[in-house]
Amino acid sequence: MGKIIAISNHKGGVGKTTSAINIGAGLALKGKKVLLIDMDPQANMSQSLGVPETEAGIYEAMKGNSALQGLKIRKNLFLVPASPGLGGAELELAPEAGREFILKELLAPVQNEYDFILIDCPPSLGLLTINAFTAAHEIYIPMQAQFLALQGIGKLLGLVDKIKSRLNANLEITGIFITQFDRRKVLNRYVMETLESHFGEKVFKTRIRNNVALAEAPNEGNDIFSYQPSSNGAFDYQQLVKEVLKRNK
Ligand SMILES: Nc1ncnc2c1ncn2[C@@H]1O[C@H](COP(=O)(O)OP(=O)(O)OP(=O)(O)O)[C@@H](O)[C@H]1O
Ligand SMILES: [Mg+2]
Repeated sequence: MGKIIAISNHKGGVGKTTSAINIGAGLALKGKKVLLIDMDPQANMSQSLGVPETEAGIYEAMKGNSALQGLKIRKNLFLVPASPGLGGAELELAPEAGREFILKELLAPVQNEYDFILIDCPPSLGLLTINAFTAAHEIYIPMQAQFLALQGIGKLLGLVDKIKSRLNANLEITGIFITQFDRRKVLNRYVMETLESHFGEKVFKTRIRNNVALAEAPNEGNDIFSYQPSSNGAFDYQQLVKEVLKRNK
């Protein structure tokens, strides 16, 4: 059965999309079949992989207008792109019965075709994120090693508790990791230690360092392994992928 992982943090710009793409691409290189789902109206994941958001996307499928279709990006890597209507989805889907379960229902028939399904969540805790959490087995939370990053996390944990008690009892936060890490900054090290003392085993050992190649790769419509396989960014995401695989043996 495919493992469904939502990559979420309502704080913006923490590396959700970069991580979803590069964990997905890294797993695909390791021979796992991966489906990426762009649940963010910003459509950054689709754009970063060079897919125009006009193609049959997640919103049309959620509206029931088309089937859920994974476009092949490369070997083992597929994408359900965002679509222009996604920005209005929170309002448009609000009156639907069972609105929290729409994504879960869409994924049920395709789940077994993939080893991993990674959902790139928007930087908010609205209906799109709730759909992702209701469909997912696990949540990964990328974080920047800043003091305020920790302050905000309570809201996310609160939502996860509610989803667990009302909609998806088996949901677990299983992975927290630091992105844009700079070991020269004392605060970065302090945040890492605080995270580990709070979340223990849930914190991945790998820290994704600040690496300009990670920011450049989307301009080429590429993941880091295709764009610059010898970069620190490629090395770090490869390490993270190893940890993901170890936890999913
Ligand atoms: N490790 C890194 N080193 C350097 N730049 C990075 C790194 N990770 C991400 N970036 C860059 O930081 C910016 C934000 O990253 P990203 O889009 O992945 O965050 P996000 O959490 O998905 O943002 P949003 O909340 O808007 O969806 C992007 O320009 C990205 O290229
Ligand atoms: Mg994003």
